[in-house]
Amino acid sequence: MSRRGAPLTDTRTIASALDQAAGRLAVLHDSAKVDAEALLCHVLGKPRSHLYAWPERVLAPGQWQAFQRLVARREQGEPVAYLTGRREFWSLPLAVSEHTLIPRPETELLVELALAHIPESVHWVIADLGTGSGAVGLAIARQRSACHVLATECSPGALKVARENRRRLGAPNISLVQADWCRPLAPGSCHLIVANPPYVPSGDPHLSRGDVRYEPRSALVGGEDGLDAIRAIGREARGSLHSAGMLLLEHGHDQAARVRALLEGLGYRDVRSYRDLADMERVTLGSVP
Ligand SMILES: C[S@@+](CC[C@H](N)C(=O)[O-])C[C@H]1O[C@@H](n2cnc3c(N)ncnc32)[C@H](O)[C@@H]1O
Repeated sequence: MSRRGAPLTDTRTIASALDQAAGRLAVLHDSAKVDAEALLCHVLGKPRSHLYAWPERVLAPGQWQAFQRLVARREQGEPVAYLTGRREFWSLPLAVSEHTLIPRPETELLVELALAHIPESVHWVIADLGTGSGAVGLAIARQRSACHVLATECSPGALKVARENRRRLGAPNISLVQADWCRPLAPGSCHLIVANPPYVPSGDPHLSRGDVRYEPRSALVGGEDGLDAIRAIGREARGSLHSAGMLLLEHGHDQAARVRALLEGLGYRDVRSYRDLADMERVTLGSVP
């Protein structure tokens, strides 16, 4: 029987496959229907509109089996983005893997603010620290083609994904370097440094819930208070920034006051935080004199 009580037919159409999968996933995930659609689109290599245009189309046995395998893995909790290997960020279809953070919509605020501070057609050097899949650096590089973006990342697995994204999206003005935060940046060389660093406190219960369980801890956890990476970046970035250069940092919704105090303590000027659409202070800016 289907979840609506009607007998299941043996016809493995797009509509019946989606209906069954959404029923299985609804027990665990609020996003059951959307997840089922994303997984089926991935198996068929088609956009979502195809599912609505051809609901009666019968799946080939291989497609049906591949879809069932993905639904079973989603039932176990694996994030859809890791199952499909894709996540959209800033309208860019990015490759992701279990070595990268799954880029969050909230991080688009960091890109938006960076672009608001980079005048059109300047030839700036911009650094993206902890680039992961390349999300932030690639979004900026594509919107400011006269700038050069230098993106650093300590995880070789993440860097491989970022390089694949650079190749597929064609962004010649970004360099991707395996390195600790600011290490490859020449003193005084950067006009703007952006980072979405790991900032979750190590004891945060969210780390053992939902999709986050599957993401690399090194991409999430910033020590006991969550601020270890922000402290390191704040210290290192000062020396890498040009005079009047800016540091723009994403952080947790309850960390803004501490991040402002930290940057002011390190001698940054004009320190201020910006709110996201949910009215949370999620990004802080500091300038060097
Ligand atoms: C929160 S994730 C952000 C990824 C990406 N920028 C995004 O917004 O989707 C933080 C990234 O910092 C990287 N990272 C952690 N420690 C680092 C270090 N010491 N130097 C460089 N990158 C580091 C992690 O591997 C991870 O990719």
